[in-house]
Amino acid sequence: MSFWKRLFSNSDAFSTDHNKNLEGELLTYYTASRGSGQSPGRPVNERRIVLSTDPDIDLYDLEELCDRVGWARRPLRKVRKAIRYSFLVVSMWEVRGKRRRLIGFARATSDRAFNATIWDVAIDPDFQNQGLGKALMKYAIEKLRAEDISNITLFADPQVVNFYRRLGFMVDPEGIKGMFWYPD
Ligand SMILES: CC(C)(COP(=O)(O)OP(=O)(O)OC[C@H]1O[C@@H](n2cnc3c(N)ncnc32)[C@H](O)[C@@H]1OP(=O)(O)O)[C@@H](O)C(=O)NCCC(=O)NCCS
Repeated sequence: MSFWKRLFSNSDAFSTDHNKNLEGELLTYYTASRGSGQSPGRPVNERRIVLSTDPDIDLYDLEELCDRVGWARRPLRKVRKAIRYSFLVVSMWEVRGKRRRLIGFARATSDRAFNATIWDVAIDPDFQNQGLGKALMKYAIEKLRAEDISNITLFADPQVVNFYRRLGFMVDPEGIKGMFWYPD
């Protein structure tokens, strides 16, 4: 059964339930921060925010999200490869009835034992400042911790350092510096 069929066939997909399906995909459902009066048995056309670890993402949806946050375009074939070789891919969707819209994304690369690095964190501007970036990051961290990965790093643009600080990330812990090498 496809991801979305599983999603819509799940009758208790509300609040912050965790539903482990047969393929081991963990989905977390958040009630929309702009919604109200949530109760079990709501109609499926109600607006919901859904988190997924399904790496099978439409690259054009992702490109549109990256455009919307103002990132430079990257060749899709390289984006596809980056996703394929990522350890964790987290996407966030707004779901209204049968319509879905990609509104958030993050991925992590990892040695699968000690270290993971989070990349490409983005929330659609229409959905920013509602706690969704925090929810996306907490979900990604939870998934990495579930794999017993304890060293989680990322590279923060200067304007978002405090966003990550609020999530517990430290700048230059014990004086350690991130270093970069670029081709000439
Ligand atoms: C950075 C980004 C993911 C934050 O997502 P968001 O959904 O707006 O953030 P949230 O609403 O979950 O904010 C969580 C907390 O961080 C704070 N915060 C959000 N953006 C912040 C920023 N740029 N600087 C400092 N604090 C910020 C919020 O005030 C909130 O604080 P609180 O927990 O005390 O209430 C989002 O702004 C974005 O996609 N930006 C463009 C892409 C980008 O820069 N990505 C990061 C690349 S390193």
